Amino acid sequence: MRIYVANPRGFCAGVERAIATVERALEEFGPPVYVRHEVVHNKTVVEALRARGAVFVEDLAEVPPGGRVVFSAHGVARAISEEARMRGLTVFDATCPLVSKVHKEVIRWRREGYECLLIGHAGHPEVEGTLGQVADGVYLVQTERDLDSVPVKDPEHVAYVTQTTLSVEDTARLIGALRHRFPSACGPRTDDICYATQNRQDAVRALARHCDVVVVVGSAHSSNANRLRELALGMGVPAYLVDGAADLEHAWFAQSKAVGVTAGASTPEHAVQAVIRRLGEWGARLVQEEEGPAETVVFSLPKALKRASAARQ
Ligand code: F3S
Repeated sequence: MRIYVANPRGFCAGVERAIATVERALEEFGPPVYVRHEVVHNKTVVEALRARGAVFVEDLAEVPPGGRVVFSAHGVARAISEEARMRGLTVFDATCPLVSKVHKEVIRWRREGYECLLIGHAGHPEVEGTLGQVADGVYLVQTERDLDSVPVKDPEHVAYVTQTTLSVEDTARLIGALRHRFPSACGPRTDDICYATQNRQDAVRALARHCDVVVVVGSAHSSNANRLRELALGMGVPAYLVDGAADLEHAWFAQSKAVGVTAGASTPEHAVQAVIRRLGEWGARLVQEEEGPAETVVFSLPKALKRASAARQ
């Protein structure tokens, strides 16, 4: 059995920044540092930060007066920012800048009098944060069927945005249907799917062409990790989503000659390497890195954190 490792895989710039934000806040101020929602959707990452003193909460009411709170990479609704402000909490906002860009698009479309369609998955924190940027006039579209029931008042003034971690192919199809239904709809040139999601989907597609089984390292609630698994499955290749080496099952690889390994954007590389080691223990011989585009995107830490750090020097 040979192992092919996708490239790129694992951490994106937004995830690196969100984790670094919590780590820096812990270093500067000591625990506890509160984090609203899992800072990124990865069990390994969250457990490691919790062990260092991060306290994960779903509701700001759990943060004591004067507490420091990090907003997760997925972003928050304006009501949440407002609540933190009213309560005098110190906020370090680790919303990925590519999510913030979508927030700004929604705000701009509404200001210009457009109703806005958000293509995304109900219940995902990024979607809740984007819907919550404005008081009204934004409607979630998950399927083509939703296009028939969105309560748009003026079909001539419709715009659309998308969640950043969707399937590129499914989203292109849905945008095609949206443009058919609302021919004058305005939106981004293609979609708002981020560079990291796009690159990881391209990489798993390349893997699935020559592997007979694919392992995606990532958590079950990670949107982009799930899309990687679905993409391989859609190409007819058995694909498994695992948090780490302990979740692998020997039987998955019984007939395998070439196993592909990749990781969602919130998965640390050490979890990928542990999976590769376990496959090696089960007889895999050669590990080959795939060719892939270099990713050079880097996001700096939130300004409020840099200011707070500088003030302490
Ligand atoms: Fe940002 Fe995309 Fe990563 S939106 S957090 S760069 S998956």
